[in-house]
Amino acid sequence: MLDVFYERFRPGFHFSPPSHWMNDPNGLVYYEGEYHLFYQHHPHGNNWGPMHWGHAVSPDLIHWEHMPIALFPDEHGAIFSGCCVVDWNNSSGLFKGSHGLVAIFTHADTCPKTGQPRQRQSLAYSSDKGRTWHKYEGNPVLAEDDLIDFRDPKVFWHPQSERWVMVLVAGDHARFYGSKNLREWSLTGEFGKGEGSHDGVWECPDLFELPIDDSGHSKWVLIISIGDNPECPEGSRTQYFIGEFDGNTFINDNSADHILWLDHGRDNYAGVSWSDIPERDGRRVMIGWMSNWKYANETPTGDWRGAMTLPRALSLTSRDEGIVLTQMPVREVERLRKTSMSWNDVTVTQDVPFTQQTNDGLLEIEADIDIRSGNETHIKFKSSGQNEMIIGYDPVCQRLSIDRSKSGLTDFHPEFACNHGASLVPEDGKIKLHIWLDRNAVEVYGNDGLIVLTDQIFPDAPIENVWISTNSGQVVLNSLHIHTLKSVPISNGAVEQASRGNDA
Ligand code: FRU
Repeated sequence: MLDVFYERFRPGFHFSPPSHWMNDPNGLVYYEGEYHLFYQHHPHGNNWGPMHWGHAVSPDLIHWEHMPIALFPDEHGAIFSGCCVVDWNNSSGLFKGSHGLVAIFTHADTCPKTGQPRQRQSLAYSSDKGRTWHKYEGNPVLAEDDLIDFRDPKVFWHPQSERWVMVLVAGDHARFYGSKNLREWSLTGEFGKGEGSHDGVWECPDLFELPIDDSGHSKWVLIISIGDNPECPEGSRTQYFIGEFDGNTFINDNSADHILWLDHGRDNYAGVSWSDIPERDGRRVMIGWMSNWKYANETPTGDWRGAMTLPRALSLTSRDEGIVLTQMPVREVERLRKTSMSWNDVTVTQDVPFTQQTNDGLLEIEADIDIRSGNETHIKFKSSGQNEMIIGYDPVCQRLSIDRSKSGLTDFHPEFACNHGASLVPEDGKIKLHIWLDRNAVEVYGNDGLIVLTDQIFPDAPIENVWISTNSGQVVLNSLHIHTLKSVPISNGAVEQASRGNDA
């Protein structure tokens, strides 16, 4: 019975581990027709513990297959977050003239001299499409004795300076290192002290260039996740900076106190992007861990814990307030659609709401809403039990919000039940919402991904009804589409290596 209860929150189309604990996405790389997703994994418990790299592969970012655990803790410690690159030209010398995958990650242990936590960067490599991994015998390849927080390397090839660039975090700033061979690294620059939000320790950086609309110009985006701070109700969250990268360091275009948030929901953390997506595709695709360090260890999912957001394609757009990042789920998510229904010019009031029964609560909703009446719109997802989760838009405050205070199981942490939101400015008297609802989460995209809110929910029973109404007066839905979605079970190609005693 217990299993059935907990499997109820197993997502239908978001990635989740086969069992036990998962946090950050790691080693995101596209290679020879497969997207790889590695992840922080504790295969012996459903709480954070000695970190391994779990592994899954997908041909399309939607259908995943679990693979055996890729990296196990060893004599240098546990395997914290990091990345993978394709070493196309064997610059590392690890591939006997051919190419292969190199993982660059943080080894975490305790310094025997000081007794303090120690974090150093190491390599592992694979010549068989990520199926088997060898740790580099010269590990660790990068250590800074005086830094305690020193982790989460993200590496890319920088053609202009003909070298690899590593960005990683050191407590309150990002550091940049360069290398010709992935094995020897030298410091080239630092960014971040006094810049942006320092509500928590800096973690999981990423750095990439993106075009701005169709302007022919581009900018660099520096992603920085910031850890939980008990004083901040938001918990752990991710900020980004827009600027330039000159091959050595990052230069912020905005003033130091200008803070840009990646996601205004509570559950999108440690997100990073895929490396080596072919140029003919050209997308920058990111995925985040759909949880929050504030309560990640307490969510009521049973023997598995943690899920990823939908993979999202990133773009830059120039607005009155400056250049900002937009994100939308990759187009491949359309493959999830089962049935589609459409309506035009629907007038809703508090007494005459729009309602639609749903079957197992896996939904995608597109709504263009005329907000000129000045009344609030409420989109409610109601369970067959007592619960409802409300997505609201208040045209007076221009605020898009999620209220998950009555969304189901919330009492596992005092700050989970909340109503929170962000500013969404209407365009021509309208707002556009695009919503994905899964059994454990909702993702809300406002105005083509300008504002995003990602939240976990744990309903008492499946969502059975979509209900759209107002607080008073009327609101017109110019158009409304509701798609029911398929569930995509993750096939398990993994052998439980841990049970065969591969742990150090
Ligand atoms: C972010 C993080 C990383 C670290 C990993 C450990 O969520 O704290 O900084 O490498 O998780 O699991």
